[in-house]
Amino acid sequence: MESLIIKGGVPLHGEVTISGSKNAALPILAATLLTDEPCVIRRVPNLSDTRFMVKILQSLGATAQFEDGTLTVHAKKIRGYADYELVRQMRGSICIAGPLLARLRKARISLPGGCIIGARPINLHLKGFEALGAKIKIEGGYVDATAKRLAGAPIFLGGRAGPTVLGTANVMMMATLADGVTVIESAACEPEVMDLANFLNAMGAKISGAGSPTITIVGVEKLHGAEHEVIPDRIEAATFIIAAAATNGEVTLKGAREDHLHAVIDKLKEAGVSVERRGSNLLARRSGKLKPADITTLPYSGFPTDVQAQMMSLFVLTPGISIITERIFESRFMHVSELARLGADIEIEGPSAIVKGGRPLSGAPVMASDLRASAALVIAGMAAKGATQVNRIYHLDRGYENIDGKLRQLGARIQRVEEK
Ligand code: EPZ
Repeated sequence: MESLIIKGGVPLHGEVTISGSKNAALPILAATLLTDEPCVIRRVPNLSDTRFMVKILQSLGATAQFEDGTLTVHAKKIRGYADYELVRQMRGSICIAGPLLARLRKARISLPGGCIIGARPINLHLKGFEALGAKIKIEGGYVDATAKRLAGAPIFLGGRAGPTVLGTANVMMMATLADGVTVIESAACEPEVMDLANFLNAMGAKISGAGSPTITIVGVEKLHGAEHEVIPDRIEAATFIIAAAATNGEVTLKGAREDHLHAVIDKLKEAGVSVERRGSNLLARRSGKLKPADITTLPYSGFPTDVQAQMMSLFVLTPGISIITERIFESRFMHVSELARLGADIEIEGPSAIVKGGRPLSGAPVMASDLRASAALVIAGMAAKGATQVNRIYHLDRGYENIDGKLRQLGARIQRVEEK
């Protein structure tokens, strides 16, 4: 397994190009199963998750070529059964279920199972499938769904923590080929859901309201091939903005979408970080002393849960008390104990973490546990005195394209090594 060795204390300076969004690309790749014609998807980030999704599409019978960020997929003839081992290893693969049900009227995929940040149930996905006419059987770790006929229907998809992003994606994809109209209430409003809807409409679907809590899909007979460019990754952008602030540097983000980052930019402003538009780029740097702030993670357009860990690393450096409350996932504070190994003083009280910031950090060996927690540890390591070794960085490679290369380009002293 690989590790990152980081020598802290270097302010980041320069330009970084933001890659395509992982969380937009995964459902869009799944959507190519909805047609027997070829699709071309550009700006697909080269990550272990996207490479995995390509393998899943190929295991279903599609052909796929992935080079220089452009993916050509042709799901001419496909089967409804995805390889158990493949699907079990990546939660995001649940979003092939909707397209398989729409195209083949059947889907057999492994229950995605939980992960370290929470149980990750799929009850809302299944509720949507059944509302559109599918019969669901759960047996031996598999979800077996079949549907004689798919009929559009009104569906309320809100759950205990609000809307479901991939649940909305799954039901929206399935509804594109159902008879009649489907109205999804309490739909997820994330930009990634809008990007998927744009791709589906380019394929001939009839979707309106994406980006709002009510999405209407008028079913059509068939979808055709289409080309699409994936939106830039707002979570990667937020990660680099916070890294610039944490190291007291100045970084220009090329291609980042300010309109996808309002909640993050607003909170950073309160915390003493400025993010200004420069043409089609964003310039991130501190606007003065860092100031403590409070955050509650919410569904979009609230503060994103995927930026919670990175913000905690910034608050660890900020003199004063900052409080972070995690409302989306039940255990997304795995980075707290690892940040403590660098000298951070953080107490967890139920869904909140109380960060007593301002103590200087000193480098130490730490363990990555999940994708965004790993990013938080890299940020803290770059601000700490001395060397930090972040182990198990396969978590990081799932969602960040060449993050150590991009950080080195900005001046970070960061090396990728085989874990001893
Ligand atoms: C997507 O996951 C993202 N992943 C996650 O990003 C992101 O954290 C999450 O949305 C929330 O924004 C991808 O898009 C691939 P949810 P998803 O369904 O769709 C509960 C990252 O770091 N829920 O919106 O799986 C669930 O337990 C990853 O890039 C149900 O109760 O998340 C959670 O508490 C991590 N029943 C809440 O809803 C369901 O059927 C939001 O989950 C589905 C979800």
